[in-house]
Amino acid sequence: MENLVWLNGNLVPEADAKISIFDMGRLYGACFYESIRTFKHKYFLFEEHMKRLERSLIYSGLIHNVDMKDVRKACNEVLETNIGGSPEDFDFWACVEVTPGDTFPMPLMKKTDSKPNIFAYIVEMPFNEFAKYYETGKAAVCSFYRNIPPQCFEQRCKNRARLPHFLSKLDAKRMCKDAFAFMLDLDGFITEGTGANMFFVMNEIIYTPTTRNILVGESRNFAMKLAKKLGYTVVEKDITLYEAYCADEAFWTTSSYCLLPMTEIDGRKIGNGSPGKYSKAILDAWSKEVGVDIVAQAMKYSKLSSNVKY
Ligand SMILES: Cc1ncc(COP(=O)(O)O)c(C=O)c1O
Repeated sequence: MENLVWLNGNLVPEADAKISIFDMGRLYGACFYESIRTFKHKYFLFEEHMKRLERSLIYSGLIHNVDMKDVRKACNEVLETNIGGSPEDFDFWACVEVTPGDTFPMPLMKKTDSKPNIFAYIVEMPFNEFAKYYETGKAAVCSFYRNIPPQCFEQRCKNRARLPHFLSKLDAKRMCKDAFAFMLDLDGFITEGTGANMFFVMNEIIYTPTTRNILVGESRNFAMKLAKKLGYTVVEKDITLYEAYCADEAFWTTSSYCLLPMTEIDGRKIGNGSPGKYSKAILDAWSKEVGVDIVAQAMKYSKLSSNVKY
């Protein structure tokens, strides 16, 4: 059955979920969003994601036109409607997006009475896309493109204006079919992956880039909390490629797969080239916290082709 999409208060079939080509999200990349996964069919870190979206809307000046109650409603209704008879141990991944609405094409921005477009959609968790990497680890490729510096625009504001991210992904694919891309900042320090935060273990200390020029991932925050609970030391600092290549262990965090080991960077093996003990311990603690064996779930459903279309 086709998924229903929540669009400005209505649940409509995906094929009928249309917004104008003059939407400012399309014209300017003016689109603020969150993606949130479920565990046992309930959103994980929902309030944290809602608060981050609210901050993105405050930063962009759009909050006065958006009722966060609508955003929450969009997330909840789109999940309830699409979950159907899916097995209890299966999960979903939702996206909720807000744009300022339409403008008039020429002259740009002439229209003054635009209403925001709010939409939300869910997909089945694409377990087939990442399950095997819990065991093998996922390679990383440093992009030629640099992350947008905070002097230009705060990366803490989660938005869809992501040309450097997109081009980095394409380049990574060309260089190493099976790698995630990441970007440096203007000073050559590591910022983040195109859709994930990064951690490096050196001499028993877990390091991660500072919040200066990254999207501060909710999974990053959660992983740091778990690591501290496990008694590990976690330090935010500027990290160079030299340090990353020579790290004992490394891993990625993001909402969909939670945590994946990073076992290679730019063709250099990290540690012994296998997932390390810190990744495993944090992932195990994560599974305990949410009451789902994250790796076993991904493995169980890894043969299922996902309905992710992007
Ligand atoms: C650029 C970027 N960094 C980090 C993350 C991880 O954020 P979160 O853990 O909140 O999913 C994402 C997730 O989409 C992202 O796009």
